[in-house]
Amino acid sequence: MKAIILCAGKGTRLRPLTYTTAKHLIPVANKPVILYTIEKIKSAGIKEIGIIVSPENRQDFIAALGDGSQYGVNLTYILQEEPKGLAHAVLMAKDFLGDEDFMMYLGDNLIMDDIRPFVKEFEEKKELSALIMLSPVQEPSRFGIAVMEGNKIIKTIEKPKEPPSNLAIIGLYLFRKDIFEGIANIKPSWRGELEITDAIDWLIQHKGTVEGHIIYGWWKDTGKPEDLIEANHKILDEIIEEFKIEGTVEASSVIQGRVSVGKNSEVVNSVIRGPVIIGDNCTISNAYIGPYTSIGNGVMIENCEIENSIVMDEVKISNLSFRIDSSVIGKKVEISENDGKPKGVQIIVGDLSKVIVSR
Ligand code: DAU
Repeated sequence: MKAIILCAGKGTRLRPLTYTTAKHLIPVANKPVILYTIEKIKSAGIKEIGIIVSPENRQDFIAALGDGSQYGVNLTYILQEEPKGLAHAVLMAKDFLGDEDFMMYLGDNLIMDDIRPFVKEFEEKKELSALIMLSPVQEPSRFGIAVMEGNKIIKTIEKPKEPPSNLAIIGLYLFRKDIFEGIANIKPSWRGELEITDAIDWLIQHKGTVEGHIIYGWWKDTGKPEDLIEANHKILDEIIEEFKIEGTVEASSVIQGRVSVGKNSEVVNSVIRGPVIIGDNCTISNAYIGPYTSIGNGVMIENCEIENSIVMDEVKISNLSFRIDSSVIGKKVEISENDGKPKGVQIIVGDLSKVIVSR
């Protein structure tokens, strides 16, 4: 079995972060979101992975992941010139997939459950054309929805206004080659996309062999900044097993709970309350780093407080009289406060940035 990971969308809800990087490469607990997916796929015994990329992000993926050998997989980059829909992305991978059964994974989704039972079920039930992972959700109209009769899916609908069920398609699908017959028989939807849900509906109507596999564990579509913060919290809390102090922690500092400090990093006169992960070559001085914070490489944090946040590489934060909370701070950002006159705030931020000041 091969796998494809779909990463060719525009990531508009994560702008401005996605102006300079694909949303799948944004770090959560200091690791790009897509690496959790690659590890999951590998855990199911699949090593041949095609990554569907766009002309804008292709180079970023190649630079970040290479041929995949350092992660024990073989990566092939497949270009989708325009994001014309999930079924269109699958079509772009036709040559890579050949006649093999395959897994399709939406690259921005994080799934915590063990996916091996899902793959095993598909391997055993040879009569199935597709097996789709589902999970009950609170707001079904935000997702693709499946209507079930027993284990069988009898209908799928993309983001319905009046959802007939609360079972969401969460971004992990198993197909055999007959999905290509389905894709050949559908037309673009009202939003101009070739929808995978329409191709699945074609399979349901013409083959009647699509089943759902329901999971109840945590999963997340990391499409918005608050989703990244929640995912960061979850991964620091439950996924990372090993926390290590490799850098220097001066005696005047207090480390509480599970904390990692990377190589060549220094913690001076600060309080770090875990779970916290600090990358390599960082300087943390006279600071408080609170729970659920991930700090990338080469970061400087001085005379300030921060918690429940993601801070990317080479950020500088200094001398703040307020605490930074629940924030996502992109690469090389600088935040500081000084005693200069006149009193005020000087802001130099890119398009679509968000600055929220609480009085
Ligand atoms: O999060 C689960 C939902 O994901 C499902 O319930 C929906 O049925 C499914 O359509 C999808 O909805 P989204 O609105 O979240 O899809 P999004 O446009 O974010 O695309 C999902 C991933 O697929 C993302 O990593 C970008 C990639 N993609 C998307 C399109 C439209 C492509 O690679 N090519 C494309 O043409």
